[in-house]
Amino acid sequence: MQSRRSRLDRFLSNHLCINRRDVRLLLAQGRVKLDHRQADDIQQLVDQYTHVQVDGRILQAETASYIMLHKPPGVVSATKDSVHRTLIDLLPAGHPENLHIAGRLDFNSTGLALLTNDGRWSRGLSSPDANIEKRYRVRVDKPVSQQLVTAFSEGLYFAYEKLTTRPAQLFIIDNHHVDVILKEGRYHQVKRMFGRFQIEVLSLHRLSVGKLKLDENLLEGDSRSLTDQEVSAALTASFPWSVR
Ligand code: URA
Repeated sequence: MQSRRSRLDRFLSNHLCINRRDVRLLLAQGRVKLDHRQADDIQQLVDQYTHVQVDGRILQAETASYIMLHKPPGVVSATKDSVHRTLIDLLPAGHPENLHIAGRLDFNSTGLALLTNDGRWSRGLSSPDANIEKRYRVRVDKPVSQQLVTAFSEGLYFAYEKLTTRPAQLFIIDNHHVDVILKEGRYHQVKRMFGRFQIEVLSLHRLSVGKLKLDENLLEGDSRSLTDQEVSAALTASFPWSVR
């Protein structure tokens, strides 16, 4: 999804079919409100979620939506699917339009799924420069050795993509459970990393994205809107690395 940003003068000139001089006049007369506050700067940027009013008439009022959903197994991380239930199908009726999924989970993976209509936010979550950590609780079929911890931290070469994975953290919890922290999200990445060492992933549960944790009160299939703090927390780079 593209987020559209333009300068206020261009936005008003396009929407009202008036020239830039008349736009300046509107502002000087205090007739324009952005996000319910009087606007006075023609260079101010307006994006698709800025609430814009002129003489009390609303020109734009789309609101950004951010939803956390506890993904159950057996659900596709997609907005449409002809065979299986999708994350969108799990939302209560009347959910906002135009949602997309910010960071997919595999069909049988569970845990923190995020949906939004704000493309800038979801791109921020997956941007390689942002270093946003995704933490997974993984159940494996056999014990994990310290050599694997080192191998994950050094990165593994994926021949298909011709790349080496970024340093990943691996915390051994017990013989069959580990936490993995990735700063990227490649196709089946966790399963492929363990598969390289003949270890099978039996279940995979996303605990957090950035500093945003899955709400423990949400049962599988349940969802709720994020608070403003949580929207920012998801984009906040890292926890100190330790077993938590
Ligand atoms: N890595 C995987 O292999 N599967 C997921 O669902 C997420 C990360």
